[in-house]
Amino acid sequence: MGTLKEERGTTGEAALLESIFANVSDAILVVDRDGLIAMANSALERMTGWSKHELIGVRHICEICRGMATCLEEKTCADCFFTQAQMPSFEMRLRTKDGREYPVAASSARLPDDSSNKLVMIVRDMSAQQQAEKERYQNKLTNYAIQAQEEERKRIARELHDGIGQALYSILVGLNVIGQGNLTEANRQHVNDLLQMTAKAMEEVKRMALELRPSALDDLGLLPALRSLMKRVEKSFDLQVELHVQGERRRYAAAVETALYRIVQEAMTNAAKYAQASKLGIMFEDREKEIVVTVVDDGVGFDVERALREGSGLGLFGMRERAQLVGGTLEIRSAPDDGTTLIVRIPLPKEGNEDVHTHPDR
Ligand SMILES: Nc1ncnc2c1ncn2[C@@H]1O[C@H](COP(=O)(O)OP(=O)(O)O)[C@@H](O)[C@H]1O
Ligand SMILES: [Mg+2]
Repeated sequence: MGTLKEERGTTGEAALLESIFANVSDAILVVDRDGLIAMANSALERMTGWSKHELIGVRHICEICRGMATCLEEKTCADCFFTQAQMPSFEMRLRTKDGREYPVAASSARLPDDSSNKLVMIVRDMSAQQQAEKERYQNKLTNYAIQAQEEERKRIARELHDGIGQALYSILVGLNVIGQGNLTEANRQHVNDLLQMTAKAMEEVKRMALELRPSALDDLGLLPALRSLMKRVEKSFDLQVELHVQGERRRYAAAVETALYRIVQEAMTNAAKYAQASKLGIMFEDREKEIVVTVVDDGVGFDVERALREGSGLGLFGMRERAQLVGGTLEIRSAPDDGTTLIVRIPLPKEGNEDVHTHPDR
């Protein structure tokens, strides 16, 4: 009786093992002593594109393995798992039937009770994880690059203002003093010309410092900085700009203020450069849980998909990148002859979690 129970149990277990072998998402394969694939489950068929028929007893392990990955090399056959009794965890490149290859995480072990010395391998597709990791790393790099660029702009703007700006101011004062002295008419004219040139250079330095990074953005916040940007744009281009603000007025994390400022700056510059617009409207809404900024121009519009596909400028990509780096999104609606609307949404951290987007940028 006991034997019957045992047999039933064994059959049940065997069926369960068989079902696991057939249904797990990881590939399981057995390789014989010569390196030929002796058993394979459906997952290996899916991963390689070869059917069991084309794998079992036909294909050598080296035909589906392109080598192991180490921290130094993408593919190497040094210390191959096949020569080892056991390797609990390693990375390798799996080759598919159609010649593609991708990263997998694998483990291998020789069966101790098997005189045929078979090797069992379990293989997991890591391409999605590696891609996600790559994107995370890329995002981190972009974030560092943007932060470094903002810091550098801030430093140069300060230096222009405090260094060259102050020096020019001293020259201006000195020239004024000279101008009040006893001068020949020719020299007075000369001093007047120099005064004008110095005043112009001062204006230029001020404009450059503001364009690099307005101190208002750090000292007063996003809205005052945007207002002063609007005035400069109106002055430089034949464009009427309006700003509407809805919701509470408050300061946001430095990264959020910088991102929004740069995005609106680029949108305004684009409208001025390309749109032949006469009016530009900016709607700034603080919806507590998110900020929504909409920039609308009444210009000639453009084919957004095409501009992004052709990668004609870095501006559109830069805007999207900046929005994404603070967890937000950017939407551009435009069609030829139909103006352009740009919508940025940036989520705001919950109360008590204020420093989610903060970085040492302020
Ligand atoms: N507001 C707009 N109105 C019309 N065309 C625009 C507008 N914004 C962008 N474009 C078009 O999209 C292209 C790409 O913009 P962008 O990436 O900012 O390029 P750039 O870096 O040259 O400014 C521009 O060359 C222009 O043709
Ligand atoms: Mg641009």
